[in-house]
Amino acid sequence: MQSLIDEQKNWQKICAAEDYEHPDFKAVLQDVFGRAAAYHRKQWEFVVIYLNLLKAGKINPDATGASFGAGREPLIYLIAERVKQFTATDLYRFNTGWTTAKVDKNLTCRDFVLELAGEDFPREKLDVQDMDMRDLAFADNSLDFCSSSCAFEHIGDFEDFVSHLKEVKRVLKKDGVYVMTTEHLFCHPTIKTKGNYKFSLDYLASVFAAADFFPATTLDEHLESSKLNQVKPELGALDGFNEEVINLFPGIILSKFGVPYTSSCFVFRNDQQQPFELPENRSSEQAELCQHQISKNIQAIYADYKTLNPTAKLNKNSRSVMNDHLEYLVSNHEDHFELMPIEKGHFTFTELIYLADYAFSFQVLIDLFQSAKLRFKLIRAEQLKPTSRSVVESKILQLDGSSRLQFNHQAEPGYVYALAIATAEGKEVPLKSIQVQCKVHS
Ligand SMILES: C[S@@+](CC[C@H](N)C(=O)[O-])C[C@H]1O[C@@H](n2cnc3c(N)ncnc32)[C@H](O)[C@@H]1O
Repeated sequence: MQSLIDEQKNWQKICAAEDYEHPDFKAVLQDVFGRAAAYHRKQWEFVVIYLNLLKAGKINPDATGASFGAGREPLIYLIAERVKQFTATDLYRFNTGWTTAKVDKNLTCRDFVLELAGEDFPREKLDVQDMDMRDLAFADNSLDFCSSSCAFEHIGDFEDFVSHLKEVKRVLKKDGVYVMTTEHLFCHPTIKTKGNYKFSLDYLASVFAAADFFPATTLDEHLESSKLNQVKPELGALDGFNEEVINLFPGIILSKFGVPYTSSCFVFRNDQQQPFELPENRSSEQAELCQHQISKNIQAIYADYKTLNPTAKLNKNSRSVMNDHLEYLVSNHEDHFELMPIEKGHFTFTELIYLADYAFSFQVLIDLFQSAKLRFKLIRAEQLKPTSRSVVESKILQLDGSSRLQFNHQAEPGYVYALAIATAEGKEVPLKSIQVQCKVHS
């Protein structure tokens, strides 16, 4: 597929289900990717990056390009075979926390990326380099195009974002194009977790200005009213719902601790002189709609008691702080993410759950082989700062045999809640079985 049907379509936009109905999107998904519609924001990102490069005339046999934080994304192979030369770059290391870039000790990064190439893939067109996207090893004015998918938000803080964009501006030719996807918040301030930012548009605009490198002026933020544009329920706290199960459900608007987000795509041109404009009179209507849906989701999920994973927060290596990133290995993420150390003695610690403004109950069904003194704690944390935990209610109880206990509370929208249980005597727990459940009252 070399030409577009709709040259006027603005593909600098947020992810929306209706994009899947656009003839150019459909054609690229089918003819280039050979895939069925998954209504998944990552799939959307790859297709829209490709569409933007096609629209800019950069998918051609004379073009030279690169991608940053590329891992082994499908775009590498699809673009490389259609251009003159393509370089995939990432911090390809054997000890990285990202499975996307985790190279076996006995492999070169090129071999690692080529492992996923098809049999007929023209290998000579692909170079692979271990390269930090804040410090690019390309000559000035040397690339016709470059791209990155879901990598920009993972490289650090403000200065790192600016360094990256300045570098891209330097290595692109005068008429070069950079297509980048990142995460989009709905009228919400930037979430500044180093290594895992989620940006407000205002913040991004300030990064663009500091780098003196601008995307096209208009970002299309429109979302049609559709079931597929509704916020995907947060199910990570429930027992049996691991990330693989959750990812079986389609959904392009996600939420984390009750904060909705999706993907957006920006198209930078080196010859773009006009600063990026924040859309005027941006309404908070979408944000309100998302909040309304999140509230409805909570009510639907927790209308009756639902069993929670009782050990979700116990082992810091067993849970990712990024439900939306299946590819993230948690084993050595310490230098990227805020840690959530668990105090000694705990044998139950549920996920922190966003419960909007509902009154809720945690119910504990516990069965002990013999008498034990246990400490039950209702924990609360600020919605986006899981490390800000404090104890709302604490009870020490001497229990024997089977017991049913309830903890009732009124949720506040800015907070998330969990239930933790520890031994009060620092001894082993004579535990036969434990179930922790949650229910909201409407
Ligand atoms: C969410 S993954 C995305 C990978 C790939 N683009 C994809 O969509 O499958 C983020 C990637 O950014 C890479 N990354 C993080 N910091 C980086 C940096 N400073 N320079 C280059 N790559 C980086 C990680 O190694 C990881 O492969």
